[in-house]
Amino acid sequence: MTSPAKVTFVDPDLDAIATATGRVAVVVSGDGKLSPAARRVNRLSRGAIKRLTESDSYDKRAIGDVVTLAYPVGMEADAIDVVILNRRSTQEQLRKAGASLGKLMGEDGLLLLPGTLRDTQRLIEAIVLRNYAYKDQKTDEAKPTGTITVQCADPAQMEQVTLPLLAVAEGVFFTRDLVSAPANVLTTTEFANQLKALEDSGLKVEVLEEDKLTELGMGALLAVGQGSDSPSKVVVMRWDGGGDEAPLALIGKGVVFDTGGISLKPAAGMEDMTMDMGGAGTVAGAMKALALRKARANVVGLVGLVENMPSGNAMRPGDVVTSMKGDTIEVTNTDAEGRLVLCDVMWYAQDRFKPQGMIDLATLTGAIIIGLGHHNAGVFSNDDKLCNALTKAANSVGEGAWRMPLGDAYAKQLKSRVADVNNVGGRPAGSITAAEFLHRFVKDDMPWCHIDIAGVASVKAETTFAPTGATGWGVRALDQLVQTMMEKDA
Ligand code: BES
Ligand code: MN
Ligand code: ZN
Repeated sequence: MTSPAKVTFVDPDLDAIATATGRVAVVVSGDGKLSPAARRVNRLSRGAIKRLTESDSYDKRAIGDVVTLAYPVGMEADAIDVVILNRRSTQEQLRKAGASLGKLMGEDGLLLLPGTLRDTQRLIEAIVLRNYAYKDQKTDEAKPTGTITVQCADPAQMEQVTLPLLAVAEGVFFTRDLVSAPANVLTTTEFANQLKALEDSGLKVEVLEEDKLTELGMGALLAVGQGSDSPSKVVVMRWDGGGDEAPLALIGKGVVFDTGGISLKPAAGMEDMTMDMGGAGTVAGAMKALALRKARANVVGLVGLVENMPSGNAMRPGDVVTSMKGDTIEVTNTDAEGRLVLCDVMWYAQDRFKPQGMIDLATLTGAIIIGLGHHNAGVFSNDDKLCNALTKAANSVGEGAWRMPLGDAYAKQLKSRVADVNNVGGRPAGSITAAEFLHRFVKDDMPWCHIDIAGVASVKAETTFAPTGATGWGVRALDQLVQTMMEKDA
């Protein structure tokens, strides 16, 4: 398990600056005005800060930039990170600066001197989020991440506004660990065990085993998992922090490994399919975040955990399976398995919980990567209000989300000669026909969003804000949505 860096809040202490080890980050405004702490750093380092702010190039630096002065004289720290931020900086500038600091600090300790910076908690959040590395499979003695010490005028108040953000960061780290884990380690059973352990955070967790899923009639989900030696499971996580309102339902695709099944994927790049449980990972991280920050809302998370393998028991192309809803599905391509898992979990969620709204997340199609790349998740919805609230929440926390269309003409591509519906709709508009397949399993008047996170759940190159690998995309968007939509007058 990867834990976010510990953050402590202390009173200003000019003497401690000289003896701090690791790194010292000091906020300096764009016009070069120095806070008392920055003046102290300047004096200790014999004028290094002033040399920077008075240099010709200082004007050309952007707000949000970080300039490192390595091995300063007069201080025990290895480096001074000069953080160029005005007292009132934008969320994006704060995020950018924080991400640079989070990357630079690595496993070192960090003394942060924010001066009079507003929204310092956002800077801290960004440092913590960027300071992630997946090391669970490394045998070298794991060095614990250093502590972030924040010197500020009112430590108790600063701690109070930062704690909920750190709770959400724990949810993001949980998602990243799950998405990063190899499939031989994160089997369906291990995944369910890790979700069961969320009861320690205050969630109610139920694991539904195959006999129960058979009884419920989840023929589509079970068909996907039938070729694997790992048992299929559905896990239900409940956070009841609200009154008696109907819950919001979050549904996640949890394919722990997607070989494609009998419609086998090409060998090159198949290892990336360890992340095909990204939807379930995001739902789990969001549920953990809501529990840790004790959200005043009712939210239920449901994930379908299966492995898509070719074997003597595997489903074949041409098989017809019966969903919990009762619709029969012709499986033309066993690699279009995510929708088969989701349709049963979505139906069960609506049947059992009568939610006020439903959001599913899935690494569903390669086509969404062609459409939107790695910068935006694709959002599909039958409800403008829910969809606008979701995309707004996502964009406000810096998680890209872009709405895509639905439509009957796309749904027609899924016509089957032998069954009620086909599981694939041909190459054109592959992400939209996948969404239309799911749409069929949304009850009338149920506000619903489908988020295709195939492009954003894990990235091959680091972005400004996230390290290479699992991003945890969506945990903060969903948390923000719950805040704005469900907790606004609580
Ligand atoms: N898990 C994949 C989608 C995917 C692709 C996720 C790349 C992340 C990166 C999904 O199960 C799949 O195989 N989809 C097929 C659908 C097709 C057979 C209609 C695809 O996108 O090729
Ligand atoms: Mn597939
Ligand atoms: Zn898949």
